[in-house]
Amino acid sequence: MKIGVLGTGDVGRVLAAGLAGRGHEVMIGTRDPRHRRIVDWLDHEGKGVSAGTFAEAAAFGELLILAIGWSNVEKVINQAGVENINGKVVLDTANPLRFDAEGRPPVLDIGHTDSAGESVQRWLPGASVVKAFNIVGNPHMVNPSFPDGKPDMFICGNDAAAKQTAGRLIEELGWPPVIDLGGIENARYLEPLAMVWIVRFYNAGFNGNHAFKLLRK
Ligand SMILES: NC(=O)c1ccc[n+]([C@@H]2O[C@H](COP(=O)([O-])OP(=O)(O)OC[C@H]3O[C@@H](n4cnc5c(N)ncnc54)[C@H](OP(=O)(O)O)[C@@H]3O)[C@@H](O)[C@H]2O)c1
Repeated sequence: MKIGVLGTGDVGRVLAAGLAGRGHEVMIGTRDPRHRRIVDWLDHEGKGVSAGTFAEAAAFGELLILAIGWSNVEKVINQAGVENINGKVVLDTANPLRFDAEGRPPVLDIGHTDSAGESVQRWLPGASVVKAFNIVGNPHMVNPSFPDGKPDMFICGNDAAAKQTAGRLIEELGWPPVIDLGGIENARYLEPLAMVWIVRFYNAGFNGNHAFKLLRK
């Protein structure tokens, strides 16, 4: 599949490299595809990935992954061009975090009656937004493996076919079958769940070796 990953932070780079490693054609989107940092990454960890502007990566991908810090998400969508995203599946990884105090965990900027996932779906009414990857740290997004087994990935979104596509891709990255929570409004619960992960990260001395598992019987 042709995949456009919008964002060159930790999440964008890990997912782009992981998907390229599974045979997908991946373009990573950035403000400056010729930046030394990007060129070096493409030469090493990002082998097989190409780089373009946000608009080029959005136009390239049949499926898109949005991996952008919350305060810039709407701006990047506009730079990518809504017309380049319409009709496509968009995996939204964002947690709507606000960093108020140095050394302290961030807080959620929105919640209860809204979420980043719903905001992205409103900004992209012609796309099928699926919330994914937001409750796990980037080092465990590809091939997650813990002594107690594999963690679970929860997703939500309004379009069943889009969630099936997302689920297949997530399984290719080494996850068990995803747990579908329903419509995109359930991002209101997945984003606070990420705060549990984040507070634990701070309390454990910036150690991100934890993930969630739903136990059933
Ligand atoms: N880090 C994690 O482990 C983790 C885990 C779960 C979910 N998340 C969520 O995943 C998302 C991505 O996180 P991240 O840490 O990988 O990335 P990030 O550092 O938050 O965002 C990186 C991207 O933001 C772009 N950007 C920065 N300032 C900009 C501006 N003024 N205008 C336009 N674009 C700008 C950068 O563009 P350039 O490429 O041009 O530099 C880059 O592509 C976040 O919403 C986060 O909450 C993160």
